[in-house]
Amino acid sequence: MKNEYTIAVLPGDGIGPEVTGEAIKILKILESRLGLNLTLNEVPVGGAGYEATGHPLPEETLNTAKNADAVLLGAVGGPKWENIDFSLRPERALLGLRSSLGLYANLRPAKIFPALADASTLKREVIEGLDILVVRELTGGIYFGQPRGVETLPDGTRKGVNTLVYTEGEIERIARIAFEVAQKRDKKVMSVDKANVLECTGFWREIVTRTHKEYADVELQHMYVDNCAMQLVRNPKQFDVILTTNMFGDILSDEASMLTGSIGMLPSASVGGKTGMYEPIHGSAPDIAGRGMANPLATILSVGMMFKYSFDREEPNAWIETAVESVLNQGYRTPDIMSPGMKEVGTTEMGDLVAKEIEQ
Ligand code: IPM
Ligand code: MG
Repeated sequence: MKNEYTIAVLPGDGIGPEVTGEAIKILKILESRLGLNLTLNEVPVGGAGYEATGHPLPEETLNTAKNADAVLLGAVGGPKWENIDFSLRPERALLGLRSSLGLYANLRPAKIFPALADASTLKREVIEGLDILVVRELTGGIYFGQPRGVETLPDGTRKGVNTLVYTEGEIERIARIAFEVAQKRDKKVMSVDKANVLECTGFWREIVTRTHKEYADVELQHMYVDNCAMQLVRNPKQFDVILTTNMFGDILSDEASMLTGSIGMLPSASVGGKTGMYEPIHGSAPDIAGRGMANPLATILSVGMMFKYSFDREEPNAWIETAVESVLNQGYRTPDIMSPGMKEVGTTEMGDLVAKEIEQ
């Protein structure tokens, strides 16, 4: 097995650098524990990229990412860049990375740590034991469809346009990913669409159903997205794998994350190309940036997904999950998951606690 890896580190904006710093601590520990040789190449992205070069995804950043074995990303965006041209917004960097790296599959696990069952806004019995994986299509759909933009009509009024488009190939390959990951889980896929209104997602349903014929051991069901949003808070444990489009996946994964207590807990993996990208699903949280109170666990758990999906090593992922679980069981909480009687800690302290568990 290979033991030299190059990792592109893109801390980004807001709390991005803080949480990435804790993930690097974990990488360093795994490096020595596993006898690896890691090269970490840190480059700016998002608002930081814009400040450094005038573009949110500088060429050097993209090349560093392309040449790496995996990318670790913090978060991008912030109020400072909200009024610059759309094409230069920090968020464009994420979309650029996803499409340039060919990362068409985004895996977002919403798994509850037992110690956090009371941190959820939902009743304990509704979410206890929850383990959902959202498989979100990431390089197509309305996020990338043409035509797009805002134009002025002959009468001087304006119109805004975005286009929802999926090709057969795009649907088939993401459906395969969902069926394949389901085979290693509870073997249930819920494909989420809006087939009652949108032709494109009726087509999605048709192609998912056709692709499913090759995966007889997996159970496939379909659900409209509005119903799915409702079912996620009514009875989330009915779901195993949720397969859906780019935009529906964006929305439903935020919703699913809150079932686990905090959006600060959820890691993600974007795969499909040669180089996978790993990031917390939360944003840059400018309101708490620089205050040392951000939850680094989602980014730390993303490192685990990196080992699992990009380096084909299951063990470090299990170590990380166990370490996080143990720290939570000992009562340590960042403010976003704090509850009465627990011990409140900041970003670096939380990182240190997890690091110590993994070192042992
Ligand atoms: C996410 C984010 C991004 C998205 C934004 C920041 C472009 O919300 O990764 O879920 O919409 O995909
Ligand atoms: Mg989102």
